[in-house]
Amino acid sequence: MSEQTTPRSVSVVGLGPMGQAMVRAFLDAGVEVTVWNRSPEKVDAMVELGAQRASTVAAALDVNEVTVLSLTDYAAMYAVLGQATDHLRGRVIANLSSDSPEQARSGAAWVRSHGAQFLAGGVMSAGDNLAHPASYIFYSGPRALFDAHAELLRPLSPQEYLGADDGLAQVFYQALLVIFHPWLLAFDQATAVIERSGHDIAKFVPFAIRSAAAFPYFMQEFSVANSNGGWATLDGLKMMDAGARHIIDASQEVGVDATFSYAAQAFWRRAIAASERVGTPVSTYALMRGDA
Ligand SMILES: NC(=O)c1ccc[n+]([C@@H]2O[C@H](COP(=O)([O-])OP(=O)(O)OC[C@H]3O[C@@H](n4cnc5c(N)ncnc54)[C@H](OP(=O)(O)O)[C@@H]3O)[C@@H](O)[C@H]2O)c1
Repeated sequence: MSEQTTPRSVSVVGLGPMGQAMVRAFLDAGVEVTVWNRSPEKVDAMVELGAQRASTVAAALDVNEVTVLSLTDYAAMYAVLGQATDHLRGRVIANLSSDSPEQARSGAAWVRSHGAQFLAGGVMSAGDNLAHPASYIFYSGPRALFDAHAELLRPLSPQEYLGADDGLAQVFYQALLVIFHPWLLAFDQATAVIERSGHDIAKFVPFAIRSAAAFPYFMQEFSVANSNGGWATLDGLKMMDAGARHIIDASQEVGVDATFSYAAQAFWRRAIAASERVGTPVSTYALMRGDA
């Protein structure tokens, strides 16, 4: 007699670039996937790949114990699950959409108030490339619920369970995006300086990558410093202020927008002013924390 295994199956609701990447990852791993999306043409594309179509949100919830949400934000979760609250009882909602930690906590409470279990996630992927070696997903919520469904969700990316607080995945996810967003804009500014100075961006990128190799060293150094109140010497802050001015000049000399560097300069200047006011060095970390 041949051995019988129950096929694993999941519903995915929300088929933006990330939801579609999730559907592909599940299908590649042999997981049966049922999909629903507000705009039906995205459903058609996933059905062509082998997913099953749910004609309503209720149908997507009914057909599987676990439904993964990949929506723009938690407001979209209310818009979507609000169409089928009487189909939530006994289900598991894994909301892998981005939003603030407080939105995740109140969203979790709302889902549970309708009789479903809830896991929150933050997809820390390289764009929508879930298979990239740097991609992983933060999870938070009840440990037993995560353990019960970790195997089903594993095809999405490696998993990092953080703890029971429903907001925790978003605390870590958003903290990493705090770093990523300025980096992205700074990269735009840097490459604009290169290009507007008459040089190839391609010539510059290897140097940018080489310099980025020092970032882990700086992160280690500054994490120690910030655990002790942050790095600050008055001379150091003044040096950074002067550095900010050079960056602003280098950008503006070739017509590149330096708004971002002015914001950095304002921080160094606030730290210098605070240091001079209190008579002891005040770090930018202390300003960020709201201490000074
Ligand atoms: N894409 C990435 O590279 C990436 C990486 C990491 C994390 N994330 C996060 O993953 C989540 C999904 O990403 P994404 O790029 O796929 O986002 P997206 O392009 O914003 O699409 C999200 C989905 O949300 C749906 N949606 C939005 N508002 C809705 C509403 N009021 N009612 C019903 N459906 C609604 C959209 O439906 P329609 O198709 O009908 O518009 C779409 O299916 C986001 O929270 C994002 O921050 C994305």
